[in-house]
Amino acid sequence: METKQLGSTGVTISAIGLGGMPMSLSGRPPESQAINVIHKALDLGVTLIDTADSYCQDESDKHHNERLICKALQQYQGDISQVTVATKGGLMRPNGSWTRNGNPDHLRQTIRVSFEALGGTKPIDVWQYHAPDPNYTIEEALAPAKEAVDEGLIRFVGVSNFSVEQIKQARDVVEIVSVQNQYNPWNRQPESDGVLEYCETEGLTFFPWSPLGGSRRVSKLEDIAVIAQLAKEKGVSVYQIVLAWLLAKSPCIVPIPGASKLSSIDDSLHASEVKLSEAEVRKIDQETSS
Ligand SMILES: NC(=O)c1ccc[n+]([C@@H]2O[C@H](COP(=O)([O-])OP(=O)(O)OC[C@H]3O[C@@H](n4cnc5c(N)ncnc54)[C@H](OP(=O)(O)O)[C@@H]3O)[C@@H](O)[C@H]2O)c1
Repeated sequence: METKQLGSTGVTISAIGLGGMPMSLSGRPPESQAINVIHKALDLGVTLIDTADSYCQDESDKHHNERLICKALQQYQGDISQVTVATKGGLMRPNGSWTRNGNPDHLRQTIRVSFEALGGTKPIDVWQYHAPDPNYTIEEALAPAKEAVDEGLIRFVGVSNFSVEQIKQARDVVEIVSVQNQYNPWNRQPESDGVLEYCETEGLTFFPWSPLGGSRRVSKLEDIAVIAQLAKEKGVSVYQIVLAWLLAKSPCIVPIPGASKLSSIDDSLHASEVKLSEAEVRKIDQETSS
């Protein structure tokens, strides 16, 4: 697996990470299957796992995904010293819905619980503010992360679902190493809203979320003719073509495909071996631009 640098930190991460979300929402796989998925990703060279306090079924199940990843890492027979786990806080799951909560008291508390859920023996590798809450300023909502860095609870901080202006505001509060926004063939906003260019210029890692369109759209990738055709020509899957396209778009991009099945992560991670020419990337751009 190729590697990249996390922001300008000097920390090395795999060029493709694992998205933990499908292993903890409703309809999630049995724990043994989820642990096998995480172990398979590690076997194939993944050193970046994305999670969140809110990857769970509802509020009573909060931090499920972090505990699962911690358990899988503890049970892994190989070397986990280079693995970076990037978690998030700032979303709530009342009755399984998704709501924002940028209340600094809540964020202080959830950072502590995430720290414990991820093992409680070393700082959280990366903590990301999940999505801006209009009820609190960016300065108010990022202050707990800054405090946690100073206390040694968090090593690096990232943001998610942020505009360029909001990223700049966050950087006035605490050093930011990564940005995580939606980016896939159906949503190419990072190309036009300036976020991708900003990350590239400023040396921040960009994690495209739902890189394959998310669980509801992933099966529709076959319907995008240029993607299906390139997959056929190269003898690879449509998922690998999409991930290779994202990797080709910018050196700062580290896609984090989600998986709950072994076959999904096994397939997705081989995308780092698929190379697209500039003309092929442009063809996908043309057919997926809205
Ligand atoms: N920051 C945010 O607001 C935000 C929002 C959404 C997601 N995320 C993060 O981004 C990650 C990825 O997003 P996502 O999980 O929503 O969507 P995704 O990665 O676009 O798609 C995941 C789905 O695609 C299927 N899949 C993946 N690779 C496949 C392959 N090679 N072949 C066949 N099926 C494949 C998986 O199926 P199986 O489950 O059957 O394996 C899974 O259900 C999440 O896990 C999470 O870490 C962040």
